[in-house]
Amino acid sequence: MKDKFHTGIDIGSGYTTVIIGRVGSEGELKIVGVGRTVTKGMNRGLVDDVGELKETVRLALEHAEEYTGRGNLTGAYVGVTGQGISSKNVINLALHKGQTEIINSSRIRELVESCYPENDPLTDVLHVIPVGFNLDGYNRTRNPLGLHAKTVEIESHVVSMNSIDLRNALKSVTSNKVSVNGAVFQGLAAAESVITGDEREIGSVLIDIGESTTDIVVFKEGSPWYSTVVPVGGNMITRDISAALGVPFRAGEEIKIKYGHCMPSMVNSNEEIVVPGFQGDDKKTVLKRDIAMPIQSRMVEWLRLVTQAISASGLRAIPSGGLVITGGGSKLNGLTELINDNLEIPVRLAYPTGIKGLPTQLQKPEYSSAVGLLLWAVKHQGEKQSYPQENIWSQIKKIVGKKERAMVG
Ligand SMILES: Nc1ncnc2c1ncn2[C@@H]1O[C@H](COP(=O)(O)OP(=O)(O)OP(=O)(O)O)[C@@H](O)[C@H]1O
Ligand SMILES: [Mg+2]
Repeated sequence: MKDKFHTGIDIGSGYTTVIIGRVGSEGELKIVGVGRTVTKGMNRGLVDDVGELKETVRLALEHAEEYTGRGNLTGAYVGVTGQGISSKNVINLALHKGQTEIINSSRIRELVESCYPENDPLTDVLHVIPVGFNLDGYNRTRNPLGLHAKTVEIESHVVSMNSIDLRNALKSVTSNKVSVNGAVFQGLAAAESVITGDEREIGSVLIDIGESTTDIVVFKEGSPWYSTVVPVGGNMITRDISAALGVPFRAGEEIKIKYGHCMPSMVNSNEEIVVPGFQGDDKKTVLKRDIAMPIQSRMVEWLRLVTQAISASGLRAIPSGGLVITGGGSKLNGLTELINDNLEIPVRLAYPTGIKGLPTQLQKPEYSSAVGLLLWAVKHQGEKQSYPQENIWSQIKKIVGKKERAMVG
């Protein structure tokens, strides 16, 4: 029998990661392939060269498929992000029959489907996640299956994405002859691998700091409650360093990773570093603390944008579980201390852990969303006719198909 592989493809603006896994006989997850390559064809989180992005995905797939062999993937879950992501919570009183009935799974499906927004030609729905049900106006439950009720109200968290951005990103996968089983907001994917059950319950905020984006998901009462994207990531620090020191972007990146810090008070005031000269200039010596100061200002500004984005959700305070930061940008030295200093809330630097069989190579913040996509793929396997991915996916395919036909004709 052909092996059943699960695949996550995380198209980040800095790096594209493919992880292929297989579930072993004892339910353990076996990673059978990893490919990670620098992303080309994206600028500030948006696709700006379809051919280059296709080649990026091809390279990452090629590395990951060394074990499985080319062409053996049965489809992938693809992580997407960008400013085109939006979310809202929809409450619907979709069932009111006037008589008591037992709520079965097809009723639940109907209720969830009632939360799909009206067809909007500009956006596609990625997720409709039921977060709670109110039975007869007073009994709130997350799982109404088998319960008696006269009326049921459903609340769902709906995440959508700009159709064109989504289509451009997915083309890089389908043009490599890998079908898309579902598109997943990268913030939700990252949460899948790092947010603990307790953090979901008491409420917390997942913050995935990538190269050009910061993905945010607020958890409340066990479920995602607000999803958004701030179009700023770690490369703004690199750009600052390059500009300030007059060095190329790549050298700025190296300096940031080796010596960057966002808490000048934690850096030895006399420590010097040597930075390369640019275009024939001599090497320069600079104080490490002098680099930390502008990084601190930038990160304080970044934090202001993040807290603004969280308060736009309507939350009056950050949930008591605090912030869970992940993604490559979260590795910036001093970041948890900077957040602590400014917000006085718990902060945790997170990476995928506690997953049986996960190689240590993947236990790093930059892999959170790719590992989460793989977990998502395993969790949603066999959900052929269930919501939300499959239903919505066939709708997206229909829409995309129609548009393509229209373009050809
Ligand atoms: N040790 C480090 N210190 C500071 N920054 C780091 C470190 N390691 C990686 N980064 C930064 O992390 C960012 C890349 O993170 P990641 O791989 O999560 O991004 P991405 O997923 O490709 O991008 P996005 O999520 O925005 O689409 C880069 O800006 C990189 O400079
Ligand atoms: Mg990312």
